[in-house]
Amino acid sequence: MTLTADFGPRDIHAQVERTGIKGRHLTFIDDLSPDELSNLFLTAEMLEPYWRSGLELLRHRILCTLFFQPSTRTRFSHETAMYRLGGNVLTESNPLISSSAAKNESLYDSIRVIAQYADVLVLRHPDDERVLADLEALGSDSVPIISGGYGNVTHPTQGLLDMYTAWRVLGGDFQAMTVMIATPDLSRARSGQSFALGLARMGARIVYSGTTGLRTPDVIREKLDAMGARYEEHNDLTISQQEELIADQGIDLLYLPGCSVKKGDPGRDDFMKKMEGYYFTVEGLSRIQEKGGKTVGVMHSLPRNEGEFDFGIDNTVHELYFKQIGFSVPLRMSLIANIVGVS
Ligand code: CP
Repeated sequence: MTLTADFGPRDIHAQVERTGIKGRHLTFIDDLSPDELSNLFLTAEMLEPYWRSGLELLRHRILCTLFFQPSTRTRFSHETAMYRLGGNVLTESNPLISSSAAKNESLYDSIRVIAQYADVLVLRHPDDERVLADLEALGSDSVPIISGGYGNVTHPTQGLLDMYTAWRVLGGDFQAMTVMIATPDLSRARSGQSFALGLARMGARIVYSGTTGLRTPDVIREKLDAMGARYEEHNDLTISQQEELIADQGIDLLYLPGCSVKKGDPGRDDFMKKMEGYYFTVEGLSRIQEKGGKTVGVMHSLPRNEGEFDFGIDNTVHELYFKQIGFSVPLRMSLIANIVGVS
């Protein structure tokens, strides 16, 4: 046993100081170092007692949400988090109809204007290259911008809440975790890919199960390789082959990024057909447990569609997808508090 000089009651201000990400944008989850990720999770754990009742950490501060794509969870949970921190929210959920984007105002101009009102912006946008170019051009003429999802490649706060859920449910040792990310379309699975990048940052092992021709985008693959990530890829497996793989590899968590093809898209029927090969069931999870000895947790970024997986999992010990929603609030409280600062 060793005594340390900095032992004392936990202090949220000191904790935020330790995280040290005040004023930064969040674009990719791997913009964060392992220490920064750990400190975000420690801050979230300190804020958990307040995720329903609230506290006055960010009184008079303003968060703006600007969403160019539909959302329920990402927008509402950032807004809930800001209200629980004692701050206020400006929200724009349909900018192409009800903001000056409908009058052809550029994203660059909108951000410069919002920076005069708000302390932090959460932005969801379909065009990642447009956003990255504008961030570069804006330089210091912007408030910190948290990505609520850009294009097909990044959804870092989803990855963070998935990591926080994994950290809480499995006891915090990422290096001992193996996570399978299973979807027919890894090329458009921005939530699964953000989770993968975060897991890789912390040393977890990743097993991808996808289909030939819809592979992980190069930008993600390059990042994984640069980190020396422990990952492997399997393609075109049947559901029973996937069950065997999960049991044999000692997978702890099965992550289903869900359907990335919108209603009305001509490719949706084909995608849903491919999803049949990923239809995990309660019975299948029991077979995995019998063979491999592990109770696999099932995660999903939601929303989900009928036919993606057995909704009977909802009422079993395997269900983590609704628990993820609960953990999203203290995690996003932590993120906002750390980025805005709590002086
Ligand atoms: N998981 C997720 O991003 O959900 P929303 O699209 O509802 O925000």
